[in-house]
Amino acid sequence: MISLRLYCILLFSIALVAGEIKNKVWWKNIVFYQVYPRSFMDNDGDGVGDLKGITDKLEHFIDAGIGGIWLSPIYSSPMVDFGYDISNFLTIDPTFGTMDDLDKLLQKTKRLGIKVVMDFVPNHTSDQHEWFIKSVNGEEKYKDYYVWLEGRENNTKPPNNWISLFSGPAWKYNEKRNLWYLHQFEYRQPDLNFNNPDVHKEMNDILRFWLDKGIDGFRIDAIIHVYEKDGFPDEPVVYNKLTLTTDNYLNLNHIYTKNDPRNYDLITEWRKTVDEWTDAHNEEEKVLMTEAYTNLTNLMKYYTYGADISFNFNLITEVNITSKPSEFKHVIDEWILNMPDGKVANWVMGNHDRSRIATRYPGRVDQMTILSMILPGVAVTYYGEEIAMEDNLSITWKQTKDPQACHVDPEHFKELTRDPNRTPFQWDDSIDAGFSTALETWLPIPDNYKELNLANQKGKPESHYVLYQTLTKLRSTSIALQNGTLKTTVLNNDRVLIIDRQSNNEAIVLLINFSDDVAEVVDLTDHLPGATEAIVILANIGSGITWRSMVLVSSIELPPKVSLVLFAKVDGSHSDS
Ligand code: GLC
Repeated sequence: MISLRLYCILLFSIALVAGEIKNKVWWKNIVFYQVYPRSFMDNDGDGVGDLKGITDKLEHFIDAGIGGIWLSPIYSSPMVDFGYDISNFLTIDPTFGTMDDLDKLLQKTKRLGIKVVMDFVPNHTSDQHEWFIKSVNGEEKYKDYYVWLEGRENNTKPPNNWISLFSGPAWKYNEKRNLWYLHQFEYRQPDLNFNNPDVHKEMNDILRFWLDKGIDGFRIDAIIHVYEKDGFPDEPVVYNKLTLTTDNYLNLNHIYTKNDPRNYDLITEWRKTVDEWTDAHNEEEKVLMTEAYTNLTNLMKYYTYGADISFNFNLITEVNITSKPSEFKHVIDEWILNMPDGKVANWVMGNHDRSRIATRYPGRVDQMTILSMILPGVAVTYYGEEIAMEDNLSITWKQTKDPQACHVDPEHFKELTRDPNRTPFQWDDSIDAGFSTALETWLPIPDNYKELNLANQKGKPESHYVLYQTLTKLRSTSIALQNGTLKTTVLNNDRVLIIDRQSNNEAIVLLINFSDDVAEVVDLTDHLPGATEAIVILANIGSGITWRSMVLVSSIELPPKVSLVLFAKVDGSHSDS
């Protein structure tokens, strides 16, 4: 008979082991980093980044304090939309290397303790995917894998007025099937038909395949576009003065092609698949992150229906360089207040579809980086933002690669192109910025690389990169940042924003002066009870303020455009969140 004491010890050790395996919500305070594989590091010298290149540079993530990376698609693809047109979800495109290269990358990330999240693109495939080829050929099983419809006017016109995100009709006629297929994006990206149960099964199998490979989660692409309204009615035409050409996506109100309620159920379905897998394998929880450009209510639904991180793009889409502190406060507060209980906040500052921070916020790039790191939860960094890379605005029409821009004309392409924010990472001042040895890189590297590069910023007393490192280190050591309360305040006639994080006796406070020319003096006595002095942990580069200097809490001087992070010991105990 097992004694009671032994039984207790046994139970305790099982709990410990289980605790080790089930490190629930490991992403709670993580910094995620988006790697755009074509542009991160080129190992084989063909001018395009690859998996071996990423593996070569994994130590960079440790150095920068990044806990997890998410990879834009690396699957087989004709590269019409640079990997977002997938011709086989289970193989690696030769541009990026082989499955063996990925295995090696995963071995090394596991050793270094870096999480890896893969992009999952359910809305569409490439027209080169065998499912589509079989669908075109009318093979019974695959006939309804895609959205096929008869056209109007004796099949001579598209079935309705829908417009593709990449301009022009969202339907393409196929002679062989004598039908039109739906493509919400490029015409070589046919939309899958999720009314077909076989498509669900394929998607779940794909998730399990990659989980078996050892990845830590998925970023789910373009989820709002997956289902369309039954019956395929015309969408209302809207007048939009931003409209560039008549067949522009902005000309319609997308009430039938976006935000269908069934999209949320898909998240629940995939959550279940992923959780069943982790339970069966007694593995750590996997993260699901959703990409949805939609309103706050819908964004919160993604959390409710099973996403761990419903990407928060609101600091990209809802505020800009002209916004006031009160507008920032509103965007921050509404996210926190509306988030379902127990979920983790997140702050995305950039991605492969959006202009870079330094270009969106000239002279204020650090302000945005600091903000994302001081706010509670997950910070999401797009590659290159740790050194404040800028958009390459000199890319010409001839050099343009992005299908979204190629589908318009030389006059309008600049308004749509995503190429400027996808150029190679600037590692150093050598040839191709240390990214490649090729004569030409797939997108041109901006001339500023001789100055603006990682090597040049490393180890400097102050640089964008050192600021980034200081912030990630602070996140990993500060209890106030990990578990503390959040208070947002607007001061000095809506010219100063205060982000106040406190836990027990520790306070970390971010102060931002939004004015370009007026210096402000701020009194934080009410915020920091019992503190008369605070330490400047950091300030934006070029602020002229010495890091680790002391300030008086009752009169903190904030020169124009300055962002300051302070540390203070305070009285009283703030309950941890
Ligand atoms: C997502 C991606 C974007 C891509 C589109 C189509 O929005 O972020 O880059 O073009 O999906 O897959």
